[in-house]
Parts: sequence; C-alpha cells; structure tokens
Amino acid sequence: MVRHAKISIMKNNSILTIRRPDDWHLHLRDGELMAGVLADTAKQFARAIIMPNLKPPVTLVSQAEAYRARILKALPDGVDFQPLMTLYLTEATAPDEILRAKHSGFIHGVKLYPAGATTHSDAGVRDLSQCDGALRALEETGLPLLVHAEVTNPEVDIFDREAVFLEEILRPTLDRYPTLKVVVEHITTKQAVEFVSKGEDRVAATLTAHHLLYNRNAIFQGGIRPHLYCLPVLKREAHRQALLQAATSGSVRYFLGTDSAPHARHTKENACGCAGCYTAYSALELYVEAFDSVNALAHFEGFASLHGPAFYGLPVNEGHVRLQRTPSEVPAHLVRGGIEFIPLRAGEALAWSLLD
Ligand code: DOR
Ligand code: ZN
Repeated sequence: MVRHAKISIMKNNSILTIRRPDDWHLHLRDGELMAGVLADTAKQFARAIIMPNLKPPVTLVSQAEAYRARILKALPDGVDFQPLMTLYLTEATAPDEILRAKHSGFIHGVKLYPAGATTHSDAGVRDLSQCDGALRALEETGLPLLVHAEVTNPEVDIFDREAVFLEEILRPTLDRYPTLKVVVEHITTKQAVEFVSKGEDRVAATLTAHHLLYNRNAIFQGGIRPHLYCLPVLKREAHRQALLQAATSGSVRYFLGTDSAPHARHTKENACGCAGCYTAYSALELYVEAFDSVNALAHFEGFASLHGPAFYGLPVNEGHVRLQRTPSEVPAHLVRGGIEFIPLRAGEALAWSLLD
C-alpha cells in the first residue's frame, strides 16, 4: 500500500517525508566525469532513466548493456541505485532491436531526438516516417517513445518549436500508432500542458526543476546567464505558471525528470555555449521549493515517487527521504572527474535541505 506524503507541521522548518523518488530523465555522460555526476544523482534518487545521447549514441541493446555495466561500476560503494536504460532512435533502428530491447529487461524506453534539435542529436531522426517499423515494434512491446518535442526548422521561432512539434509531428504520430505510449520530455509550454492534459492516458510528460522555477527573463538578468541556457529554452512566465499548475495538480500524467545535463564550465561560458543545466546536485530541494511556492507539498510525493513508476509499469521504491524547510547553499562550482561544472543556483540559497 502506498503511504501518503507526511508533512510534519513545524512552521518554518517543516519536514516533508516522501517515498524514495526517481529521476525519469537524466544525462550521465560517460568516462571519468560520469562517476562524479552519478554520485550526485544516486544520493537523491533510487533509479533514473538514462538518456542515450552519447558520442556515438546508444543505438543497440549491446551498447546499452555495456553502458549500464559502466554506470554500475562507477557507483560509490554501498549505494543502491538502478540505471534504467534507453535506446537512441535512428532511421536505421531495426524492429528486431526494439524486440530485443524489451526482452533485455533493462531497457525501458526509446528516445526520439529530431536531428539537430539539441546536444548530440545529429544521428537522430530527420523523417519520422522512416521509423515506421520501429514505432510498430514499440506499440507491440509497450516500450514508450520518449520524445524531445521540438521541430528543427530554422524558420520556426525557437520559442515556438515545441508547440509546432506537438501539432505537426506528435499528434499525427499518435493517430497513426494508436497504442504507442509516449513521454513528452521536459515540457516547457502551456500548449504542451494542454496537449498532455487533454490527451489519452498513454501520453505523459516530465517536468524539470528549472522550467518550474525560472522563466526566460532569468537568462538575461543583468547580462547573459549561460548556465540557464537549456533546450527547450525557458519560456515566458505564463508558460511557467501552466507547468507549475500541471506538476502540482496531482495528475498522474506528470512526473519528475530533471534533464540534468552536465557541460564543462568552459563549454557553457563560451561564444557558442552548450545547452543544459546541471541540476542533479540539488534536484529535490529545487523541486520541493517549486511545489512549496504554490502550497502544493501534498502533491510532491506523487510527482516525485509514484506517477513515474505507474506509467513505466515498475514498482514504487522501498524507503523514504526527508526534506526540511531549512535553507542550504549550493556550492559556487563543482569538480567532477577533474572537470569544473556550475550547478544550477551556484553560490545561492536553497529554501529546503535534503536530510537523508
Ligand atoms: O538542454 C539540454 N541539454 N537539452 C537537451 O535536450 C539535451 C541536454 C544535453 O544532453 O546536454
Ligand atoms: Zn535531456
């Protein structure tokens, strides 16, 4: 039986106890730096959906298996964390590979990157009609398609790319594949909220902490702030409000996915900076602050710990974590695998602290 979030009312330093949460959208990268960023995630989350946009991308079950083994090997001793692997969809993905992915038991989704939409997406899909066999195999297996929902047409304004993708690409795809399960990843607009809320149960969405806490003004506050640049880019305040409303509504269609995406400091503070916010370091504190801002702590456990497992058909985690409404501070910078990173809120205060 699922126990509901316990809020001990102690005025300013309330403690919120929730079942151990999961991160349904995470970039861990690879090599030396992976171990460092992995520890940041594993101290908060029991499991995470691991994005496959490595160089080269994780397109085969055998590659996902080897990547999973590297992640497990990089885990700090005694830490209990399960990587939930994904495959990177290309126009060459064979339907058999999808069947093998399902049978592997360790692959839980297939990621659609429109080619050119974001970091390491050049091997992604130019024309989704080329993926018919793979999409039918996804329907057959029940594995969800995890979608980076942005068109790449340079003539479409960057702030409209998500809304255009939903209507021009995703809606017809859902019509053509009537049992395909879809997670619209890191949604950023009120159009996406409407799309998911009014859609069928087979469509869900992840929300990041940064899109719940910041609007696009934050990128330009007093000068350009490269560490707030991510894709899809932050939108205007009305969109942030719609996302916050959706996340805190209690709807099972919305769940936590940080999209924590580490890029070395020098690649972000650059004439052509990379897209991605490093939020893993204090993800839960950031999310709970967003929920608290609209008095919705009672819905935090569902969003962080229950809705994701229900959609993916996995059990909820054993154990609990506790958060306290007591300020903490994010370090000004982090070094992971010998590389410097600037986490979200670097050098600034968080309203909440993770206790254990
Ligand atoms: O900001 C982003 N960074 N968005 C993505 O979709 C990819 C990610 C990354 O891998 O760096
Ligand atoms: Zn991502």
